[in-house]
Amino acid sequence: MYELNAEIKSMYCIKCGAEYPVGDYFRGCPQCLEKDENASLSFRYNGAAYKSTMGKGMQRYGNLLPYRDFPTLGEGNTPVIRLHKLAQYAGVKEVYVKNEFQNPTGSHKDRMSPLIIARALAMGKEAIVAASSGNAGISLAAYAAYSGLDCKIISPRKTNPAYKTAIEATGAELIVLDEQADTVQGRWSYMGKMAEGSGWYPATNYSMPPVGSCSFGVQGYKTIAYEIFDEFGRSLPDYIVIPVSRGDLLWGIYEGFMELQKFGYIHDIPKLICVEPFERVSKVLAGEDYRKNFPGDYSLTGSIGGTTVTYQAYAAVKGSGGFAVAVPQGKVVEDIRQMARLGLYLEASSSVVCSALLEAAGKRIPDKHSVFLLIATSGGFKNDPEILC
Ligand SMILES: Cc1ncc(COP(=O)(O)O)c(C=O)c1O
Ligand SMILES: [Zn+2]
Repeated sequence: MYELNAEIKSMYCIKCGAEYPVGDYFRGCPQCLEKDENASLSFRYNGAAYKSTMGKGMQRYGNLLPYRDFPTLGEGNTPVIRLHKLAQYAGVKEVYVKNEFQNPTGSHKDRMSPLIIARALAMGKEAIVAASSGNAGISLAAYAAYSGLDCKIISPRKTNPAYKTAIEATGAELIVLDEQADTVQGRWSYMGKMAEGSGWYPATNYSMPPVGSCSFGVQGYKTIAYEIFDEFGRSLPDYIVIPVSRGDLLWGIYEGFMELQKFGYIHDIPKLICVEPFERVSKVLAGEDYRKNFPGDYSLTGSIGGTTVTYQAYAAVKGSGGFAVAVPQGKVVEDIRQMARLGLYLEASSSVVCSALLEAAGKRIPDKHSVFLLIATSGGFKNDPEILC
């Protein structure tokens, strides 16, 4: 059975700083929730050694993960590749890409799933449940199958059939609500009832306004920061460009760098550039309330869709000194082509790092000596083949 890392000091609210004993706080910080200021909880650790010599992939960083041991399909240790031509085209010193689509189910979500499954098993749960229209569902279903845990994925009707097949092939149950209930609110409220009533372990948010996914899982994304540090040492990239929906990935990378800074490994944290399909986090950074609804078009980029912002997404961008770039749908097809011509055929929601880089380098960053790292979150085989016709 999976055992909690004894180096965990406490959990804490990323917004108000309140400390809590380790537990499952599915709706985020209880104190903030009372004020309708929904915010995620995270973990503080005693240990300072971010890496051990034991294990492979993500397991090397078990010292700073909630479970040192977890079910593994070989996630992590993804390659960093230099894109010299793109750097020349963008007029910056260097561009690199970290290929998260080389994870077992083809996306960064494979860094989150093993820790959620470890937690669910440690709590004696028999099923996990998630609301997902794509990569999180595929990943959770695979890790649940590997571990012999039941899995239920609540997906919108219009989910890409290729995703549905990948989820159901694992033996997971795909739950599609009837047409009237098939809204974000409908799916989340169904999930909340199942989590609180039937004891299914919830992997993703069901509160409105949303918080991040299961805190145990989000910790897995810190390992991207550790791997970047292993690759670049103290000469870290100046900017990291990250496609964002709930901001789990963004927050995890930020927190990984914060820990490396706190424990004295690095001086400065790279500035994080949040890529979104239309202005959501951009508006919050400009002063709007993060709990609002931000309507906009994300028809081609469902994986980074949604009309809400999480506090963690805002806090990571702000805390790192970065900014947000909205890439409109009209640029998506060209982005897929441009990255594919460099050898990287990416999912639409992931390819938008290209436009974000060009926009940031062209308009927002006057220093032409900057180094950029793009996070390629998912591969192009998940695209609707019609997209490039
Ligand atoms: C391909 C892809 N990129 C980026 C994201 C954004 O991740 P997050 O929800 O952690 O912001 C997702 C998932 O939501 C995704 O599927
Ligand atoms: Zn709080």
